[in-house]
Amino acid sequence: MKQLQVALAERSYPIFIGRDLLGRSELWREYIRGSQVCIVTNETIAPLYLAQLRSKLSGLSVVEVILPDGEQFKSLATLNQVFDALLAANQNRKTTLIALGGGVVGDMCGFAAACYQRGVNFIQMPTTLLSMVDSSVGGKTGVNHPLGKNMIGAFHQPQCVVADLSLLDSLPPREYSAGVAEVIKYGLICDAEFFDWLEANIDKLMARDSEVLAEAVYRSCHDKALVVAEDETEQDRRAILNLGHTYGHAIETAEGYGNWLHGEAVAAGMVLAVALSVKLGWLEPVLLERTRSLLAKAALPLDPPDDMNVDQFLQLMGRDKKVIDGRIRLVLLKALGEAVVTSEAPVALIKEGLLEAGVRA
Ligand code: NAD
Ligand code: GLY
Repeated sequence: MKQLQVALAERSYPIFIGRDLLGRSELWREYIRGSQVCIVTNETIAPLYLAQLRSKLSGLSVVEVILPDGEQFKSLATLNQVFDALLAANQNRKTTLIALGGGVVGDMCGFAAACYQRGVNFIQMPTTLLSMVDSSVGGKTGVNHPLGKNMIGAFHQPQCVVADLSLLDSLPPREYSAGVAEVIKYGLICDAEFFDWLEANIDKLMARDSEVLAEAVYRSCHDKALVVAEDETEQDRRAILNLGHTYGHAIETAEGYGNWLHGEAVAAGMVLAVALSVKLGWLEPVLLERTRSLLAKAALPLDPPDDMNVDQFLQLMGRDKKVIDGRIRLVLLKALGEAVVTSEAPVALIKEGLLEAGVRA
């Protein structure tokens, strides 16, 4: 098992990475402080792993909330199911919520924990690759609004993260690839050596080789933890974690939540962001080729959807949380492993980049 720490003073917490960790409750049970627990999961994951988790919670008063599955249910309306269950079971401020699921369950459970009785503890037990390497770490929680993704939320750090890699055995290939997009992101934004390593190991990673997978999850969490420790509430540096996300969120919103997976939209968005960095003269064109090649080997989309037009992109990108005074700020690369958040790209150049990627005028 590998372990690392997210260093946030009194809000610091460990991340455990390895196989069969759900069964090793001696690792994580100490992070349940009271006698009450509420497991939040969904209808796909419950039949696979809920009984296993529940069997490790003997002696505690346990409530289970099984949410419908899908990004389209990441809403305030669905979140109410968690509050209804907590209140119906008289769960108090000492309860610990456990998120057993991917990023949707993790973001919703974390937000419920941030809000319930003005804040209770929670534990992340991510079940997708994307949630292991990204969403379970760093305390961003929330739900979508019809007018924008993740627009309602809070920063609320978990007590610990349990990344049990054996749960990925049941993850469908398309979801696995979506997680690899976020893994590749770390190489691009802050870890050139990791990018080189990924190029050398991508075939093994796609074959879910145990050692390579554990190393990829460890290195991703390590990189993310450093960025989060520097800038927990995204005043500045943390925004680099959003490489490709301004484009990606526009794609997700335009296509309808859930039709393009988050990681797929991020992959196409990263290609657009790297291409724009090349257009600005900041990067050698070969890096665009290397990025495209790595993402292609991970079976990820390289191009934006063909039913979006440039104005639609710009309008949706203008709603991004990074926009200040109406100016689109993007995460772009000055070099491999060196991301910046910048409004230096003129709108005309952003438009040109979209047109060159095949987006309709
Ligand atoms: P997801 O939670 O929708 O899970 C993907 C699908 O896989 C779902 O159908 C789920 O039921 C299923 N699934 C999950 N684990 C499984 C398993 N072990 N076996 C079989 N099926 C399984 O999607 P995701 O990619 O994990 O997360 C995407 C969400 O994460 C988005 O809402 C995104 O906004 C959010 N996100 C948040 C952060 C953050 O910092 N909080 C970062 C990145 C993404
Ligand atoms: N996924 C972006 C962040 O956690 O900041």
